[in-house]
Amino acid sequence: MTSWTDEASWVGTRRPMRTATGLDPAAYASDEFYFVEQRRVFGQAWVCVGIADEAVAGRMLVRQVGSKSVLLTRNDTGDLRGFINSCRHRGTELAEADCDIAGTIRCPYHRWGYSLDGALKATPFFNEVPRDDFDKSEFGLLPVRVDTWGVLLFACLSDDTPPLLDVEHCRSDGWVPPRHVVDCAPGVARRPGELEADH
Ligand code: FES
Repeated sequence: MTSWTDEASWVGTRRPMRTATGLDPAAYASDEFYFVEQRRVFGQAWVCVGIADEAVAGRMLVRQVGSKSVLLTRNDTGDLRGFINSCRHRGTELAEADCDIAGTIRCPYHRWGYSLDGALKATPFFNEVPRDDFDKSEFGLLPVRVDTWGVLLFACLSDDTPPLLDVEHCRSDGWVPPRHVVDCAPGVARRPGELEADH
């Protein structure tokens, strides 16, 4: 059985464009490949989730990073924030799609309310059964790292991954879109890195 972490399973995709091969077709139907990819790519990498201009005050973005749904907001001082899209009460999805918000992230189930910084502020129905051992400060939304690079918006699920702007190719002064078009077959032109994305 193919081990998807062996170099032999992917090395052909890293060759120069004219000699590169596609990924083994079995990868697209392999449960093992899926779980390795979730853990080693989407679980660790900075993943592009949109355009920086989309993340404006008063708007909440809902994006997918691998199998995880992530919320992005700007707080009252304009800082970008990211959270796992799951209520700390019963785990309900907080939003299905991008939406406008007035300043509170409201759970659709029991109406818990969170600030744009993710802090739990309101527990409407909970107040009917007061509990001395319940501390709101322990039930804020789970944070996700977010950042921008040039015009792009990124999220990262791991706390151990280096900051986005420490990544070698992000250190240039300003954004330089990769427009080097190469030809890989008669009549077909692609940019580097597009081979697998097009299949
Ligand atoms: S699940 Fe969100 S308030 Fe209950």
